[in-house]
Amino acid sequence: MKFMDHHIISMTSFSRDMIDHILETAEKMEPIALGKESSDLLKGKILAVLFFEPSTRTRMSFETAMLRLGGDILNLGSVDASSIAKGETLADTIRVIDGYADAMVLRHPKEGAAHLAAEFSSIPVLNAGDGAGHHPTQTLLDLYTIKRESHLEGLKIALAGDLKYGRTVHSLCYALSLYGADITLVSPKELRMPEEIISDLKNRGAKVTETDSIDDAINDMDVLYMTRIQKERFPDPAEYQKVANKLKITSDTLKDVKTGLKIMHPLPRVNEIKPEVDDTPHACYFKQAFYGVPVRMALLALVLGATE
Ligand code: NCD
Repeated sequence: MKFMDHHIISMTSFSRDMIDHILETAEKMEPIALGKESSDLLKGKILAVLFFEPSTRTRMSFETAMLRLGGDILNLGSVDASSIAKGETLADTIRVIDGYADAMVLRHPKEGAAHLAAEFSSIPVLNAGDGAGHHPTQTLLDLYTIKRESHLEGLKIALAGDLKYGRTVHSLCYALSLYGADITLVSPKELRMPEEIISDLKNRGAKVTETDSIDDAINDMDVLYMTRIQKERFPDPAEYQKVANKLKITSDTLKDVKTGLKIMHPLPRVNEIKPEVDDTPHACYFKQAFYGVPVRMALLALVLGATE
């Protein structure tokens, strides 16, 4: 399968075969991600890291992935300390970085930014989140987590929280539709999944149900994918306050769930999963954050042509 020089912008362009191939490659990378084996597969390669929005896991797991494979990273650093603060356009920044690195990973507050970057870049662009748009590399690690900790075939999954502004769930539901998942969308009515995504999912043959109550959905689920309310994307802070505390998982929520239920969250969490849940066998979110390393190793090795 040829991934070399591919941009990774949105899950809508991935086939199931492509995803399966990335997940299989990630599995082979796990011993290296754990530091049990060493590798110089990407020796001499440079990944440019451009984050125009805060990040902990996505940025650091990309950097770890590159370092574990013997490659180097070139970090733009704080936007305030770069020429962007002087008014440089994204297109110009991308054209310049194109000459400094072999691939670039970009997070930006504007939907469509990664797509635009790809138009000006001859090296692969990996979208690490574009506003409320997409977050495809998160989806790949989410699928990897589901595969390792639950099962992708015949999955019953609830996506809960901010389905309007949450880019992780936008990307994830497209990918889940390729696996015939039974998807329940759980959100306050103000934060429903955009209508065009729901109709895309239905056209792709997915089974989609909507509710505003976690309690109504959770007992039947294999996976509950919880998300943070995306405070920074609300045009009006008062609107955020209205929905801020509507969905919460406590130990009480878990009273009658399936033994094998896995609770995932892309993190950071604010208050939607109580710390008391962390010590239950259902909590899967910290493991999920680790899985970002082997999955991003696989992606980097594939787009840089170091593996097929
Ligand atoms: C997510 C994001 O940035 O979209 N975080 C992440 O990449 N793990 C989720 C969020 O910020 O709520």
